[in-house]
Amino acid sequence: MIIDKHNRIHNYLRISLTDNCNLRCFYCMPDADYSFMPSSQLMQADEINQIASTFISLGTNKIRLTGGEPLVRKDADTIIKNLSAFPIKLSLTTNGVRLHDFIDTIREARITSVNISLDTLQANKFQLVTKRNNFKRVWDNIQLLLENNIHVKVNVVVMKGINDGEINEFIEWTKHTPVHIRFIEFMPFTGNRWMDDKVFTWQDILGTIETQYSWIKLKDETNDTTKKYIVPRHKGTFAVISTITSPFCSTCNRMRLTADGKMKNCLFSKDETDLLSALRKGEDIVPLILGNVKEKAAERGGQFVKDFHQLQAVGIENRSMIAIGG
Ligand code: 5AD
Ligand code: SF4
Repeated sequence: MIIDKHNRIHNYLRISLTDNCNLRCFYCMPDADYSFMPSSQLMQADEINQIASTFISLGTNKIRLTGGEPLVRKDADTIIKNLSAFPIKLSLTTNGVRLHDFIDTIREARITSVNISLDTLQANKFQLVTKRNNFKRVWDNIQLLLENNIHVKVNVVVMKGINDGEINEFIEWTKHTPVHIRFIEFMPFTGNRWMDDKVFTWQDILGTIETQYSWIKLKDETNDTTKKYIVPRHKGTFAVISTITSPFCSTCNRMRLTADGKMKNCLFSKDETDLLSALRKGEDIVPLILGNVKEKAAERGGQFVKDFHQLQAVGIENRSMIAIGG
């Protein structure tokens, strides 16, 4: 069992397959010229399997693949198939651009739920946020997943002045379509130009929705990062991920592995443990995993202040989001 000094049991691993991406969302990709990790530095498919298997032997029962964009990796297919042989719940967070090439793999791997990042329902704004013209592709791929009876969660990073005006259009989408929208408060990462006045809070989000809809609170599970709601008679649901204004760290069960094989015990942790180098030297990684989680800070990597308006984002020691893997 993997347990930290705050008695939280950790059974959920998020593995980043690559820091590369076919989109360029400004809140995720750093400003400065970002150089992608050389492939020799990345975990190879068999190394991912070995590391995953060690985590599973320690009680991990859920693995999510992330990026960058996990599906731009050439051997994503092999990695997904390999991991699907383990007795775990396997899932995927993707920007959706290449999903049509992976629908068979997803079905064969018995992945029943996929998270898609989509911050706008307008093609021109999609281009503005991602610097790529792929809205139609992503939209069509969401329909493709739905046709295949896959549970679709849509991640929307809400940024004041950019897409907060579209919140109720996302809610309207849930009326006839079983999509599950997750509004995420904008978070600071290295190089992402975070400013407190760009945060559209959980309360702001609910306030906006209340101008047009009534909602019912749904029950959340113990380890959920989301607070879930439904508009009566809508087919889909919505939720808020309030990392900034109301963190959910007290029940956290998540661990992360970056594409270059470094373990992080929190999205905001400073410290990393190099599992890949140890594995390549033939060392036992079990004590490294246990030690990494043991030292986990109680909340948000120990790097935040309560009032987010006082937060100095440049002072947070971390990687950029694209290099952590969401
Ligand atoms: N703030 C909040 N969410 C973010 N994501 C990426 N960068 C940020 C940020 N700065 C989200 C993406 C993706 C998920 C893995 O993380 O939308 O869906
Ligand atoms: Fe790519 Fe996702 Fe980052 Fe956008 S948020 S640049 S889609 S990894």
